[in-house]
Amino acid sequence: MIFVFSGTGNSYHAARCLSEAFQTDMVEIAAAVRYKRFAYDAKGGDVGFVFPVYFFGIPSIVSEFVENIAVKNPGHVYCISTCGGTSGEASEQLQEKLRGKLTVDASYDVIMPDNAVFAFDPPSKEKAAEINAAADVTIGGIIESIRKKEKGDFRTTARKDVDGLYSKYEEYRNTEAFGFDERCVECRICEHVCPEQVIRVYHRKPVWDEDKCSLCMSCLNLCPKQALQYGDSTASRGRYFHPDYYMWSLGVNPKYKYGDE
Ligand SMILES: Cc1cc2nc3c(=O)[nH]c(=O)nc-3n(C[C@H](O)[C@H](O)[C@H](O)COP(=O)(O)O)c2cc1C
Repeated sequence: MIFVFSGTGNSYHAARCLSEAFQTDMVEIAAAVRYKRFAYDAKGGDVGFVFPVYFFGIPSIVSEFVENIAVKNPGHVYCISTCGGTSGEASEQLQEKLRGKLTVDASYDVIMPDNAVFAFDPPSKEKAAEINAAADVTIGGIIESIRKKEKGDFRTTARKDVDGLYSKYEEYRNTEAFGFDERCVECRICEHVCPEQVIRVYHRKPVWDEDKCSLCMSCLNLCPKQALQYGDSTASRGRYFHPDYYMWSLGVNPKYKYGDE
C-alpha cells in the first residue's frame, strides 16, 4: 500500500507510477485523517509514504497521520519525498514520528516543479515539463530499487535544517494570509480541491474555515482565474500543477480552462 499526500499532483503522480508498477493500492492521507482511518494491514506487502517536502520537513497532515497509524504485517517500508530542490530532513522527521511502529528501509527524493507560489514564482510551463521529464527518470529508478528491496538512504538533496526553516512552517500555515480578488468567478474549485476541506464557499465566496492548514497550495495553484492569493505578493506570480492532477481530482474535462490552454 502507498500512503500519499499531494497538493498539486507531483506526489500523486509519483505514487501513481508506483501503484501501477506494483499493482498496489493508494491511500489518500488527507481523506484517511478526515475519516480517522488509521489501522491498516499490509499483509506482508510493501508500505510506501509519498508526500511533498515543506520547509525542509513533512506536511502537518502527514505528521498527524503517521502519529496515529498502526500498520500490521508490513513488508519493505519506503519513503519518497518530492521537492522543488532540497528534501531537507523530511525522511528523518517521518522516521522519528514512526518510531516504535515502523522502520523506514529506504528513503528517496525526487525533484519536481516547485509549487510554493507563496514564496516564489513557479517554473514556466516549458521548464516544468523538463523537470517532470527528469523526475520520471528518477521515479523509474526508484521503482527498480524498490523492486529489488534495496535498503538505504538514496536521497540526493537531503540537507540538515541548519537555519531552522521548519520552525517557520507553523507561522506560514496560518490561513489568515489567504484571500481572493475580483477575478473569483465562484466556480468552487478551491473548495473542491482543498485536500483538507478547509475552504468552504459561503455566500458564493471562499472562506478559510480553519485557523491553520497544511499550506499545500492547491487552492492558489488550481484556481482557474488565479483569483486566490496568499499575502500581497502572489497576484503577479505564475501557478503550477502537475498534468496528472486532472486524473486525480478534477476529472478529465474540467469546465474551466487554465492559463493559455
Ligand atoms: C508550503 C510549501 C513549502 C515547501 N518547502 C519546500 C522545501 O523546503 N524544499 C523544497 O525543495 N521544496 C519545497 N516546496 C516545494 C514542494 O515540495 C514541491 O513542489 C512538491 O513536489 C509539491 O508536491 P505536490 O504537487 O504533491 O503537492 C514547498 C512547497 C510548499 C507548498
